[in-house]
Amino acid sequence: MESIEQILDLDRYPIDRPDSSAYRALVKKCKDDLAEYGMYNLNQFMRQKATDAAAKEIYPRFVSESFHHKRLHNIYFKKHIPNLPSDHPALQIHETSNHTLCADQLTETTPIQIYQYQPLIDFIAATMDKPKLYQMDDSIAKVNFMAYHEGEALNWHFDRSEFTVTLLLQKPDAGGLFEYRSDLRTDNDPNYDGVAKLLCGSDPEKKLMDVDAGTLNIFRGKNTAHRVTPIEGDKARIISVFSYFDRPDVCFSTDELLGFYGRAEPVTA
Ligand SMILES: [Fe+2]
Repeated sequence: MESIEQILDLDRYPIDRPDSSAYRALVKKCKDDLAEYGMYNLNQFMRQKATDAAAKEIYPRFVSESFHHKRLHNIYFKKHIPNLPSDHPALQIHETSNHTLCADQLTETTPIQIYQYQPLIDFIAATMDKPKLYQMDDSIAKVNFMAYHEGEALNWHFDRSEFTVTLLLQKPDAGGLFEYRSDLRTDNDPNYDGVAKLLCGSDPEKKLMDVDAGTLNIFRGKNTAHRVTPIEGDKARIISVFSYFDRPDVCFSTDELLGFYGRAEPVTA
C-alpha cells in the first residue's frame, strides 16, 4: 500500500501539520469559502498518479459487483409534502441512476485509506467549527463509490445530512457537472415557488461547477438544491462519498441499507 504522502498532496495542503501557520491559513480559507459559497474545494488534493490508479482499479468492479440504483423521485425524495398539492411544480419527478459500490467491497483501496486518515478528519472538523468528527460505524455505508455512465445523472435534491464530503476519482469527457442553487430554502421557509422556478429552468441564481479528478469537496447541501448533470460520452464519472458525523457509532438502519444498496449485510472477504 502507498504511503499517505504518495497519495495526497500534503505539500500543497498541510493537513498533517496542525501547529503550522500554513495549516491555520488553509483552515481560514476553507471557512471563508464555506461562509460565502456553502462549500470548499481542495483541488487536486489526491495526487494525479494515485487518482488515476484508484479509478483504474475500482472501475472494473462496477461492472460485476455494483448495485444499480435507479429511481424516480422529486427534489424531496418524499411521496407527499404536507400542504403542497401533488401537482405543484415543486414536486415534479426526475430520474436518478448510478451504480454503487460500498466500503466493504473496496477495503484495500486508497479512497478508504484517505477516509480513515485522522488528520483529514480533524482538518474537516476544524473547518466546520466542530470539536470532533467521527467515521461511521457502518462497514457498508461509511464510504460509497458511484459511477455514472452516459446519460445517467444524480438529479435535483437536498441532502439529508448537514454536510457531504466527496472525492472525485474520474471526470467524464463532457457533462457530469455539479449544478447548484445556494440557499434556495431555509429551515423555516421551504420556498416551494422558488423550488418550482429552479426545476422549470428559470432561476438565474443557478450555478455550475466543474472540478478536476482528485478534488476533495466539502458541501453544505441541506438547503442548497443540487444535482449532477447527465454524463456525455463513454468515460464514466466516478466519485467517492465519505460519511462523517459529529457523534460516534452512527449506522444506517436495515431499511436505509436496503434502500440505498439493495443489501443489509456486508460482504465477507
Ligand atoms: Fe447531495
